[in-house]
Amino acid sequence: MLTYDVDMVRPLTAGDLDGALALSMEAGWNQTREDWRLIMWAGRAYGIGAEGRLVATAAIIPYPPFAWIAMVLVSGKARGRGLARRLMGQVMSEARMTGLVAALDATPAGRNVYTKLGFRDAGSLVRLSCNGPARLPAGETRADIEIAPLDGTAISQVAHYDRPVFGADRGPVIASLARRTPNLALVARRASRIVGFAVGRNGSQATGIGPVVADDAEVATALLARLLPRVAGRLVIDVHANHPLRARLEAAGMAVERGFTRMLFGEGGPVGDLSRVVAIAGPELG
Ligand SMILES: CC(C)(COP(=O)(O)OP(=O)(O)OC[C@H]1O[C@@H](n2cnc3c(N)ncnc32)[C@H](O)[C@@H]1OP(=O)(O)O)[C@@H](O)C(=O)NCCC(=O)NCCS
Repeated sequence: MLTYDVDMVRPLTAGDLDGALALSMEAGWNQTREDWRLIMWAGRAYGIGAEGRLVATAAIIPYPPFAWIAMVLVSGKARGRGLARRLMGQVMSEARMTGLVAALDATPAGRNVYTKLGFRDAGSLVRLSCNGPARLPAGETRADIEIAPLDGTAISQVAHYDRPVFGADRGPVIASLARRTPNLALVARRASRIVGFAVGRNGSQATGIGPVVADDAEVATALLARLLPRVAGRLVIDVHANHPLRARLEAAGMAVERGFTRMLFGEGGPVGDLSRVVAIAGPELG
């Protein structure tokens, strides 16, 4: 049996990247080393070790007025011994001390843990996936929507556009993702005004598309019609279950792989303007 000490919650550093990546790979998750690095840069990650290796993690990214909780992972052999509860205690007390409302996107297994801790359901997401390029029918894509690379000054303009939609400032995260994979970062304008954007990144299992934010379904379709054919291998996108784009993506050959539940702690209100959020940045980033 593994020996560990649940009181030995410690902050993770760059030296833990290999151990953290091994844990997310063990769970079949899509994060890369760069994703873990981004999470540690934008927020803080914690871990518990046993016999010289990392066996449990959790992270918190402050997005005032929210604190995004992510990467709650416990290695198979160490489960059922209170490690997730202990790490959640750490990140939730940080959220409480900084006056932030804890929010997260839960797997079904995670939801069992968070419900007991006082989180409540606040929305449903589905992960759609496919192998090979997905082609959205151009449908009613309107000629007045201009699609351009998301780079240069457009990045800070997009961060400004995104703020009321997401419900918090995640400009540095969007900038980091857009710079990491410029080929998969697009902005949509109508009459020179920003009306949407989409960003993708390479994962360890698949290319992940998101966030995708758009004023309406036509803008979202125009962005994704341009973006999706650029992805050759496996593709995943986490969409709000009731968004109209879901049906269009399913018609383009994508299928539901699994679901997530958005959860908020306590009495916190809804996060942002969900009607404009087509796809999240991933359960690890919100
Ligand atoms: C979900 C996960 C993090 C739980 O880790 P864990 O260390 O086994 O959880 P804990 O032992 O701290 O359990 C905390 C509580 O949740 C309950 N719980 C944990 N997993 C459960 C499950 N699958 N079904 C029902 N209850 C569960 C425990 O009984 C415990 O209840 P208690 O506080 O009343 O005793 C772990 O199973 C895991 O890593 N799963 C794969 C990755 C994942 O889905 N992570 C969640 C991301 S949102």
